[in-house]
Amino acid sequence: MEPEELAPDPIVQVQRWLAEAEAAGTTPAAMTLATATPAGRPSARIVLLRGLDARGFVFFTNRESRKGLELGANPQAALVFHWWELGRQLRVEGPVEPVEDGESEAYWETRPRASRIAAWISPQSRPIADRRALDEQYAQAAESFGDDAVPLPPFWGGYRLRPETIEFWLHRDDRLHDRVRYSLVEKEWRRERLAP
Ligand SMILES: Cc1cc2nc3c(=O)[nH]c(=O)nc-3n(C[C@H](O)[C@H](O)[C@H](O)COP(=O)(O)O)c2cc1C
Repeated sequence: MEPEELAPDPIVQVQRWLAEAEAAGTTPAAMTLATATPAGRPSARIVLLRGLDARGFVFFTNRESRKGLELGANPQAALVFHWWELGRQLRVEGPVEPVEDGESEAYWETRPRASRIAAWISPQSRPIADRRALDEQYAQAAESFGDDAVPLPPFWGGYRLRPETIEFWLHRDDRLHDRVRYSLVEKEWRRERLAP
């Protein structure tokens, strides 16, 4: 993999890799999201990529979850995708901001009704008594919503990571892998090869 063979715009190159990952039968949108407290203590979990354009990478979650609180206090994050079948890894880093309410609303409306009700009743990342309490709360909420619309909760929505670096990693024999990192320098993307 030569830096010059990749698209000058790394977002275009990410879109190509996502399409190729999908064609290879993987779950291309699953990505590890790393956040950190202001003191620098990291945490990581998988979320799904739900939007990608020149502005950045979008995912949705409970904004009062552990990741949501960490992003509120320290709006910097990293993403990692791994597609074993293709021997490819993608790493992304940059600042994160909440998406506009309209964008969260639009995505919310695409979610199955049961997932929307579940988002309302789940205090994501907080301890709960037991499974039964969760199921009971779900059943109560389903009943009280009845046939009404299930609106977007005020504590739920999207975030956009605005990439400042994007690294494409390709498995090669003998551990001599290819790595190409794009960095945003004065609003221009620069490419360089990194040692494996
Ligand atoms: C394949 C997969 C996809 C997931 N997608 C999401 C997602 O898009 N949003 C989300 O909030 N949690 C998602 N989760 C759950 C998270 O990994 C995590 O358990 C949850 O968000 C709580 O994380 P936190 O306590 O660090 O905030 C997903 C988990 C898996 C395994």
